[in-house]
Amino acid sequence: MDKLTYAGNLENLQPVVDHSGYSFVQADICDSETIDKLFAEEAPDAVVHFAAESHVDRSIHSPAPVILTNFNGTFSLLEAARKNKISRFVHVSTDEVYGSIDEPYDADENYPLRASSPYSASKAGSDLLALSYYTTYKMNVSVTRASNNYGPYQFPEKLIPLMISNALEDKPLPVYGDGQQVRDWLFVEDHCRAIRSVLERGNAGEIYNIGGNCSLPNLEVIHRILKATGKPESLMTRVTDRPGHDRRYALTNEKLTKATGWEPQMDFERGLATTIDWYRSNRDWMDRIKSGEYRKFYELNYANRS
Ligand code: DAU
Repeated sequence: MDKLTYAGNLENLQPVVDHSGYSFVQADICDSETIDKLFAEEAPDAVVHFAAESHVDRSIHSPAPVILTNFNGTFSLLEAARKNKISRFVHVSTDEVYGSIDEPYDADENYPLRASSPYSASKAGSDLLALSYYTTYKMNVSVTRASNNYGPYQFPEKLIPLMISNALEDKPLPVYGDGQQVRDWLFVEDHCRAIRSVLERGNAGEIYNIGGNCSLPNLEVIHRILKATGKPESLMTRVTDRPGHDRRYALTNEKLTKATGWEPQMDFERGLATTIDWYRSNRDWMDRIKSGEYRKFYELNYANRS
């Protein structure tokens, strides 16, 4: 189920449309009537809730849709799951709920919640709401908190696809502030395997961090993209920093590894090369995305920022 907002793209599901387990419903998770009806008709074994407005910069320009979808949408899914007695619910969240993490610490699942942006605050709120359905209604809910994803099909508003796409087109690569902010990079397929392991083997009422064991400053990531695409360093452009910009995210995965045996398998060099190859071979996909709403957001976020 997907609302198909600006980042939703049915083209991304093309490789699985013939799978016997696949069907698609276009719906908004805030539309509780539709969700309730769908759950009653389909009687799913489990709900894996990925649906979110996920971009921090957009949440700064326009927080309302972020709060509505991420908080109220989670509420309507939880309510429909409770009413229809769905036996498993996995709420997919983010390491951003911990806010900026001071060196030398890596956050475990008990680290305090110090969300900085409307986006991360909406995720922290929805995590607590999901966990309250375990405490109060004894629903079989687990929460996952993942670090920064990258890989094929990622919408080019996020750092890695944006930088790859601009590099391939010889456009400036906008670095926020001093570029020394640290993110922990997780290949998308490692993330999917982790969610599956939580779905199958995670415990009710528990939170599981999912990190890539790959903390790098943004400038380092951008250097590697320029090197791998054979483009000059001069494409890098410093722009005004993001307001409330978190300096460092860093997680420990110990709990998930102990509970399920999961560990990230993709190392960053291979993951980045795979991702760049994918974007090189899918220029049409990128062109179609960049011709639409994307342009308006790019203008809003990047114009007058140097
Ligand atoms: O940590 C998990 C989170 O990672 C997810 O919950 C979010 O949904 C996802 O958007 C991502 O949040 P970030 O803010 O870390 O990701 P983003 O790709 O927007 O930015 C990564 C870093 O790169 C951040 O320090 C800001 C910087 N940046 C980003 C963009 C888009 C730039 O320097 N220039 C840019 O143009």
